[in-house]
Amino acid sequence: MTERIYLLPLWLRLWHWTNAALIITLGITGISIHFASPSTVLVEFSLAVRIHSIAGTLLVALYAFFVVANAISGNWWQFVPKPPGILARCWVQIQYYCWGVFKGEPEPFPVTKEANFNALQALTYWFIIYMVLPVTVLTGLIFLYPQFAPSRIFGVDGLLPVAVLHYLSAACILLFAVAHIYLGTMGKTVTSLFKTMITGWHEH
Ligand code: HEM
Repeated sequence: MTERIYLLPLWLRLWHWTNAALIITLGITGISIHFASPSTVLVEFSLAVRIHSIAGTLLVALYAFFVVANAISGNWWQFVPKPPGILARCWVQIQYYCWGVFKGEPEPFPVTKEANFNALQALTYWFIIYMVLPVTVLTGLIFLYPQFAPSRIFGVDGLLPVAVLHYLSAACILLFAVAHIYLGTMGKTVTSLFKTMITGWHEH
């Protein structure tokens, strides 16, 4: 029998898909800017810079909205990795993703209204949203207003560490997005988790 629970409020779903669209836009234009060369052009350089600046500014506002809405609604608690035994639960979940799911085994930690994420999701979502994304957003903001960057850090130009941190944190988010979309196919059916993110209803 299929059981349905209403899991995700509208604001969270709107945040998720706007965030996804902005991250994809920033990824494509960011790659175009970072690997700019006269021979290979993904998006023309000056256009890529303009789109990247606009999408980046929108992401700053969207991130601020998410942090506030997540705090006010109490949804932040879902994102907190909860010991004890979190690593053991992550390992069980990894085994399920690697082979359990292909053998038709039941989900080790089924979704409930109280615990939307399994341990691996809580850990990765917390890390990406609350540890990595703020670094990308903050370093991006410094790039938009370089007058606020220190002129020198550890004997090098002050913008160099900002650039390295921006690049590494953004690469981390893009790698996450690839794994995230793949793991998004591991619901009851290949499309059911994507449907949940659109309708808010979870089926299991
Ligand atoms: C086109 C790109 C994307 C697609 C197709 C996609 C798809 C999905 C799917 C199917 C889920 C439900 C699976 C689950 O409960 O874990 C989900 C949840 C989630 N995604 Fe994405 N995603 C995308 C991009 C992103 C990006 C770029 C981020 C963050 C940087 C992100 C963060 C999240 C978070 C935090 C959740 C959990 C939301 C909640 O249930 O409260 N997603 N996504």
